[in-house]
Amino acid sequence: MSASKLAWLDLPPFTHAAGRVQLPGSKSISNRVLLLAALCDGATVLTGLLDSDDTQVMIDALRVLGCDVQRPWQGRADAVRIQGVGGRLAQATSHAPADLFLGNAGTAMRPLTAALALAGARATVRGVPRMHERPIGDLVDALQAVGCGVTYLGQSGYPPLAIAPSTLALDAPIAVRGDVSSQFLTALLLALPMASMGRSQPIVVDVLGELISKPYVDITLKLLARFGVQVQRQGWQRFVIAPDSRYTSPGTLPVEADASSASYFVALGALCAPDAANPPSNSEGPGLRIDGVGEDSIQGDIRFVDAARAMGAVVHSAADHLRVQRGAWPLKAIDLDCNHIPDAAMTLAVMALYADGPSTLRNIASWRVKETDRIHAMATELRKLGAGVDEGPDWLRITPPASPAHWRAAAIHTYDDHRVAMCFSLAALNPAGLPVRILDPACVAKTFPTYFDALFSVTQPAAADIPVITIDGPSASGKGTLAAELAQKLGYHFLDSGSLYRAAALAAGQQGVPIDTAHEAQLGAMAAALPIRFSHQRTWLADQDVTEALRTEATGADASRISALPAVRQGLLQLQHAFRRAPGLVADGRDMGTVIFPEAALKVFLTASAQTRAERRHKQLISKGISAKLEGLMQDLTERDARDASRQAAPLKPAQDALMLDNSTQSVDESITWVMQQWQRVRPF
Ligand code: DC
Repeated sequence: MSASKLAWLDLPPFTHAAGRVQLPGSKSISNRVLLLAALCDGATVLTGLLDSDDTQVMIDALRVLGCDVQRPWQGRADAVRIQGVGGRLAQATSHAPADLFLGNAGTAMRPLTAALALAGARATVRGVPRMHERPIGDLVDALQAVGCGVTYLGQSGYPPLAIAPSTLALDAPIAVRGDVSSQFLTALLLALPMASMGRSQPIVVDVLGELISKPYVDITLKLLARFGVQVQRQGWQRFVIAPDSRYTSPGTLPVEADASSASYFVALGALCAPDAANPPSNSEGPGLRIDGVGEDSIQGDIRFVDAARAMGAVVHSAADHLRVQRGAWPLKAIDLDCNHIPDAAMTLAVMALYADGPSTLRNIASWRVKETDRIHAMATELRKLGAGVDEGPDWLRITPPASPAHWRAAAIHTYDDHRVAMCFSLAALNPAGLPVRILDPACVAKTFPTYFDALFSVTQPAAADIPVITIDGPSASGKGTLAAELAQKLGYHFLDSGSLYRAAALAAGQQGVPIDTAHEAQLGAMAAALPIRFSHQRTWLADQDVTEALRTEATGADASRISALPAVRQGLLQLQHAFRRAPGLVADGRDMGTVIFPEAALKVFLTASAQTRAERRHKQLISKGISAKLEGLMQDLTERDARDASRQAAPLKPAQDALMLDNSTQSVDESITWVMQQWQRVRPF
């Protein structure tokens, strides 16, 4: 499923999770090591790198600055090779200033600003409108104080910025505030070693105010060490960069999986009921296994596991994975200072919906200046689900819905914030069995583009909770096009049941089995074991690509004959039911609403006059370079309609509760709009 074009994604309610999930690389580590690799003289290969919006803007920027970045590297999609530019970061900008667009990636904006300013580059840095509301003044103050040529192009204190070469004064300690975001300090620590090259004196950075999010600064120091730069830390107030520091490539560096992303699956494991009927298939142990990160990770958000344990989760850790299962139930309410796990703490706010009393998350002021004002966003969306929420300048208190009846089906606004989208998916575990709508689900691309696929791969909603839309109708009514586009719009799976009958007919032909009642049992058995696969818009029968062969008129006519045999219809039943997977299904055919999915949430019977349908098919064939006569097509269609409608087994007829749609005079878009309106009507949002 690609979330990229979806206006929303409806998650069916679920109660169980099992199996393994592989997490993408850490965003914090990925963008730091990309920059560090660029500042080295040699080449660095990074494996397990996160492939997301934020890393893409960093890579794009580094390329603009003259770095050769090869991705994929040696056939590995998660690997990149970076040829560093070392001390020559400013060179690419010596003729014309670089214009760098950094999206909404704070982890690119702050360090690149520092690196460009300290390297004496000429550049402008800017981002999406929200980026221009995210503070950067503390970093600019620090840079200006040492003589860097950084100026505001818009509002003072915020990007966009202009950067120009200047003379630096690095002898006195550099002061930077650390109480709004630790990223300002991180930015300086990553970039200052460049300025220390050739110096005989250390460079000293002093933190003003109480440093927040210390674990992120710790990641910075650990990664600098991997690149050969030693920074001496004196408490959390002073950092000393050794004279003449040089970035040295570690050669190959594996990037840990993202500990903040792990939080959603740790929570999932803690929230899911053990499934006695369906124990996990792998024998290593119970619960959900999360691959790519263990408890000794260098990422601060890994300490989320302690908070999850405090709420009742049972978490086991190995070097490179976690295993989680439900412990206390309901979860235990907590009152926690979350300063050390600012991102993962959002997951706690949703877990709090399942606790035995009100939970309070404290010391989270940094939430206000993240992708969105996260305190406000979480409070607003949690209330929509039926929770009681109080908020303060730097805290949030969540009172769970009083009973299952107090839960509400909600459309969750996500504020272009990946973490809002991901953590609210956990509301689909609600005890009321309500679905949850996630608006703009594609925002997860910031750190975890395949998040929803990963979620669906380890959760198993009950079949009855997975919504189905059926589109039945006669040949060439346009149901295939309509159903496929609806599926795309909703992020649902798509079943073109006609293609199964076509494939069964094709297989019979290939194996020399005549399509008649005398061979019905044999044809039925063949249908039940049909080796059909759908992948990348192609259809395969065993290892043969039959995409085109399925669409011929001859196969269509054979399909119509084979579909009249009850044993074949029975044989294809299981295959069709197997398409009903989360998040939902749009199925088109003749008997989708009457026989295969009689409990479908929305049934549409699509018709068009025989003349219109024959004309459409004619146009379709001509456009493919296949010659056809309108009269012949008209006759074929009429005959096929008669056969499909008159057969004993599942004859073509609208379900009693189907909505009739004659699309003779409609465009495809008009039909889609109409069906979407009907769908909205039956959804609880
Ligand atoms: O929709 P189509 O033209 O690809 O379908 C090919 C034949 O398969 C059609 O003549 C009738 C049969 N069919 C069926 O009997 N039941 C379905 N659900 C789908 C198709």
